[in-house]
Amino acid sequence: MKIIKAKDYNDMSRKAANIISAQVIMKPNCVLGLATGSTPIGTYAQLVDWYQKGDLDFSEVTTVNLDEYKGLTRENEQSYYYFMNENLFSKVNINLERTFLPDGTEPDSDKACRDYNKVIADVGGVDLQLLGLGHNGHIGFNEPGMAFEAETHCINLTESTMKANQRFFASMEDVPRQAYTMGIKTIMQAKKILIVVSGADKAAIVKEAFFGPITPKVQASVLQLHNDVTLVADEAALSEIS
Ligand code: F6R
Repeated sequence: MKIIKAKDYNDMSRKAANIISAQVIMKPNCVLGLATGSTPIGTYAQLVDWYQKGDLDFSEVTTVNLDEYKGLTRENEQSYYYFMNENLFSKVNINLERTFLPDGTEPDSDKACRDYNKVIADVGGVDLQLLGLGHNGHIGFNEPGMAFEAETHCINLTESTMKANQRFFASMEDVPRQAYTMGIKTIMQAKKILIVVSGADKAAIVKEAFFGPITPKVQASVLQLHNDVTLVADEAALSEIS
């Protein structure tokens, strides 16, 4: 694993965006695996900035996102599609027909997962997968203790995650109970993986995931077995690593 140390969040975002932009320049028709969450927001903003300056062209790029809430439409402000549209898709010249997320509106979980596996296979797999890291070591919605699940699957959100999400919804009934997520096998099949981490609150999990034992208890620890992983993290997130 390559570790790139950034000074702070902005520096992390710029360095991560540099790696993604190098991928797009080297292979204009590449497949980018994308993540939501707060960590990559600055990375997307930097990519948008370079696009606006004329330095980047997304016209041939395909994207596949890690995950989506089951039951949310694309118009729902809490859906991951909405997030991607707000932070990237609507701001660059990407062909929206080549942007893919699991279909949150598909009530049949088996079908939704099967369809998404087919999408990933049909686009030819992921060239560069961007990941964030959960405080408990999750990647995508692959949560601690689950077997390393292979492909796209439907997960039940934990009570604590649902409670944490409650603030974004009118009532607890509106909070999604399930989500569709790429599995560990799909993530591991990406040719390259870029993981972005920021903040002192992630320092302990960075150490555990990348310098501790490989175990389903810390799903991201499996990344130690991938042969092309780059971790871009700020000083605070790397503070427990000597
Ligand atoms: C996002 C995702 C999650 C986040 C993780 C970190 O699509 O799948 O695994 O990457 O929860 O989230 P932040 O960046 O908000 O700390």
